[in-house]
Amino acid sequence: MNAQTLPGAAGNGASPDAEPILAVENLSASYGAVRALDNVSLAVPAQGLCAVLGANGAGKTTLLRTLTGLHRASSGRVLLEGEDITRLPTEKVITRGLAHVPEGGGVIVELTVEENLRLGGLWRSDRRSSTTFDEVMDLFPPLVERRTKTASTLSGGERQMLAIGRALMGRPRVLLLDEPSLGLAPLVTKQIFTLLRDLRDRIGLTVVLVEQNAAGALSVTEHGYVLNQGSVAAEGPSDGLLADDRTRHAYLGF
Ligand SMILES: Nc1ncnc2c1ncn2[C@@H]1O[C@H](COP(=O)(O)OP(=O)(O)OP(=O)(O)O)[C@@H](O)[C@H]1O
Ligand SMILES: [Mg+2]
Repeated sequence: MNAQTLPGAAGNGASPDAEPILAVENLSASYGAVRALDNVSLAVPAQGLCAVLGANGAGKTTLLRTLTGLHRASSGRVLLEGEDITRLPTEKVITRGLAHVPEGGGVIVELTVEENLRLGGLWRSDRRSSTTFDEVMDLFPPLVERRTKTASTLSGGERQMLAIGRALMGRPRVLLLDEPSLGLAPLVTKQIFTLLRDLRDRIGLTVVLVEQNAAGALSVTEHGYVLNQGSVAAEGPSDGLLADDRTRHAYLGF
């Protein structure tokens, strides 16, 4: 199916002509005979907030895992700041500035908040870790008082914050998030989404937000892509997608 492109204003961040900080060109990936990504292309401007939406099994997680080299692309390219990172091992992708918070966050519950954050700093290439630690603590006031507590004592929202904080310890340019709202109450989800916008504004982060909570994700982002069976079924400014009944009913379930 051809992707439907919606009209609308360009998103915040960069002009449509500027080179995107993250560009995905005709990316395909499979699990054996199952083609999970089929010719997916997207472009994310620096400091943009971009949603990737779609039903169960649409290919969202596979897209993020392929971007960070956890899953191998069968064809196509991933460009980060113009550099082809498609075939790089994951640790090199991360040190080049692409961070990935997996579904569930992946924090280690037996370790303290501080230990989890410092683990994230191990991916740094420049090793000025103590500076970054203080900066990350500044960005997440609720974590400061929990610094010496194990992650098991945190609420779901605090764990998600910790997972994001840990990813930021590597000083990424682009943050990929896989369903951060999963299992969170609506109010906490809103706080996490607002936090993403704050991070963009405060530290110039670019965010790719994978979500099944399409309405919430479109209300915080500027641009959205809708995946269906591994292909981009629709894309456009987030407010346009929110207003587009056909796309909402066909792919987004609201
Ligand atoms: N490890 C795997 N082995 C085989 N097939 C897989 C594997 N992981 C995913 N798939 C298949 O690839 C397709 C895309 O799955 P993916 O997990 O990327 O979707 P998703 O959009 O993240 O779904 P969800 O919303 O449920 O997280 C689906 O058909 C899925 O069954
Ligand atoms: Mg998934």
